[in-house]
Amino acid sequence: MKELTQKDSKVEVKGKEAKYYDALMNIITLGTYPSFIRKAIKDLNLAKGESILDLGCGTGRNDCLMLKYIGDEGLINGVEIGEEMKKKFLENCNRPNVELIDKRIDEPLGLERTFDLVFISFVLHGFIQEKRERIIENAVKVLEPGGRFSILDYNEFDVDNSGFFTRFAIRKIECPLAEDFILRDWKSILKKSGFSKFEEKFYFKGKVRLLTAIK
Ligand SMILES: C[S@@+](CC[C@H](N)C(=O)[O-])C[C@H]1O[C@@H](n2cnc3c(N)ncnc32)[C@H](O)[C@@H]1O
Repeated sequence: MKELTQKDSKVEVKGKEAKYYDALMNIITLGTYPSFIRKAIKDLNLAKGESILDLGCGTGRNDCLMLKYIGDEGLINGVEIGEEMKKKFLENCNRPNVELIDKRIDEPLGLERTFDLVFISFVLHGFIQEKRERIIENAVKVLEPGGRFSILDYNEFDVDNSGFFTRFAIRKIECPLAEDFILRDWKSILKKSGFSKFEEKFYFKGKVRLLTAIK
């Protein structure tokens, strides 16, 4: 298999795909995305007043759901570079306790404050491993001791022996870097970065996982 580079990635969502991103997710998942994402956000076990850094926040769909749990005393900082995504985020999450940070998540973030939770949803798989590790480093830097790092993304599974639809989705529709992400042992990788105490929740017949690690 040819070695993939960051140029092969589809993670920077632009144009029409960005404009209709949320609707596209609903269609691709045959209308199950809204209930899935509500469940996944509930599974974050957020508490009133918590501060969250959302890396690659997209349209803010997840952040709007998080706001219900953290209340007005909580805080969300969404990091995003896509022009259409930033516009949607600002429209959807127009609240005094939500802020957009226009920075690349795979470069030093240079943030002054720390957070209770760093969240990254369907973003990490779209980077080459070196950049994924840089993103994890960014998360470690901004987390409070005892803070959580939650990755909502593909679970580890055997793509070769998956059903036709899964193989087709991963190999023909998804970002070409996704399969490399699926094949890695993420708990070991996170342990090397200083994380411990893992908690996992699974969705879409185990193909998607919410992996939470404590700093
Ligand atoms: C597949 S979308 C997921 C969006 C959102 N997290 C969700 O779950 O709905 C990936 C997002 O990451 C953003 N992104 C990609 N590369 C980025 C980078 N280097 N820095 C910041 N955001 C990035 C894209 O613009 C896009 O909004």
